[in-house]
Amino acid sequence: MPAQPKPGRYHVKSFGCQMNVYDSERMGDVLAAQGMTEVDTPEAADVVVLNTCHIRERAAEKLYSDIGRLRRPRADGSRPTIVAAGCVAQAEGPEIAARAPDVDVIVGPLAYHRLPQLLQRARTGRVIDIDMPPVPKFDALPARRTGQASAFLTVQEGCDKFCTFCVVPYTRGPETSRPAADLVGEACALVARGVREITLLGQNVNAYAGGLSLSGLIRELAQIDGLARIRYTTSHPRDMEGSGGDDLIAAHAQVPKLMPYMHLPVQSGSSRILKAMNRAHTRASYLATLARVRAARSDIALSGDFIVGFPGETEADFQETLSIVHDVQYAAAFSFKYSVRPGTPAAQMPDQVPEAIKDERLARLQAAITAGSLAFNQASVGRRCTVLLERPGRKPGQLIGKTPWLQSAVLAVPGAAIGDLVEVEIVSAMPNSVEAVPFTQSQVA
Ligand code: 5AD
Ligand code: SF4
Repeated sequence: MPAQPKPGRYHVKSFGCQMNVYDSERMGDVLAAQGMTEVDTPEAADVVVLNTCHIRERAAEKLYSDIGRLRRPRADGSRPTIVAAGCVAQAEGPEIAARAPDVDVIVGPLAYHRLPQLLQRARTGRVIDIDMPPVPKFDALPARRTGQASAFLTVQEGCDKFCTFCVVPYTRGPETSRPAADLVGEACALVARGVREITLLGQNVNAYAGGLSLSGLIRELAQIDGLARIRYTTSHPRDMEGSGGDDLIAAHAQVPKLMPYMHLPVQSGSSRILKAMNRAHTRASYLATLARVRAARSDIALSGDFIVGFPGETEADFQETLSIVHDVQYAAAFSFKYSVRPGTPAAQMPDQVPEAIKDERLARLQAAITAGSLAFNQASVGRRCTVLLERPGRKPGQLIGKTPWLQSAVLAVPGAAIGDLVEVEIVSAMPNSVEAVPFTQSQVA
């Protein structure tokens, strides 16, 4: 008998990475396919899904404080059905059950296609589903509802790399790839709904192996009429080294729809720390990969992730991180203080770095990253390119979109609509955005 969760208003709150944003949208698809209606706030919802992220700090605390707020009875005496989803649910399901008896459903990231059944069962008592099922959830999901210009498409999940600081291999399971034919079908459906740009997502997206390699999939998707742009994230430097990376790098030179942007986290500039992190790449091999990438596509925008204060990191190690930021000139980068994830090898390592030192290193690193982003944006002033319009800006008549290099561009284009690709010239730069004018306008000026 099909599950029919009632009553029917839901709200999904998303924490963390893009993959979680995608998962939240897909959980919404699952609930909408049951006849439920999305609402903008948890207060208005009958079912609230908290889609947690476990990768960095305070994930569990955020979950518990949200649960605390949600369980208080509302003016009419009701309280919503509370669903704890995502990686914290996967990693700490039994603890959540013990500490937060008001949670109705605990569901891991590999099982959310079963949400309707779980909600049904939750009417008679709490349910926990943190199995890692052999049948991929994607096969069981309904069609997408998106109406955006740019959409995510998860192509690969999980991780076999076991970096010593990271929980992902434990919460998302081993690397699995969705079949290329399914992805091409989903991409065509997205394009039919007006999507112009697709970002292929995976924890190790460049390890994609779904009948085609990632570059093969990109070349296939590039054939779809109406799809203007293709991106992918996150790549691992290890899978970029050697022949595996050659074809993907070549695709950057050969496939015009593939945008000139690559997110390639290095984590640290010190080979000694990289070894302790079990990254399986060195500073030198990482820089050699970037040189190959830049040889194929000289204007490529590079981005990365950094961790400061990994156990044993000295000031000299940190200086190597600062110097890599300086040498590479990232267009953008994300930086984090190392935080202990219980159950990971680094949690047991000696020489944990004091919090005050982490704070101070993070501040210096972020200053270097911001300077690099500003330099990248300034160097793009005068460039002509396309911008995909994604949303209205703050001021009337203003629109915000993305350049090929993933810069946020603010512009006014009379008569243009969200989803349009407009030709522009970049005219000024800030650290986190650029200002652009329509190309024809700048020619006239
Ligand atoms: N502490 C700090 N940052 C972390 N990341 C992953 N695990 C941790 C941790 N324990 C960061 C890495 C990764 C990004 C998604 O999150 O930089 O690339
Ligand atoms: Fe985590 Fe490393 Fe896997 Fe990335 S590659 S998800 S950092 S274990």
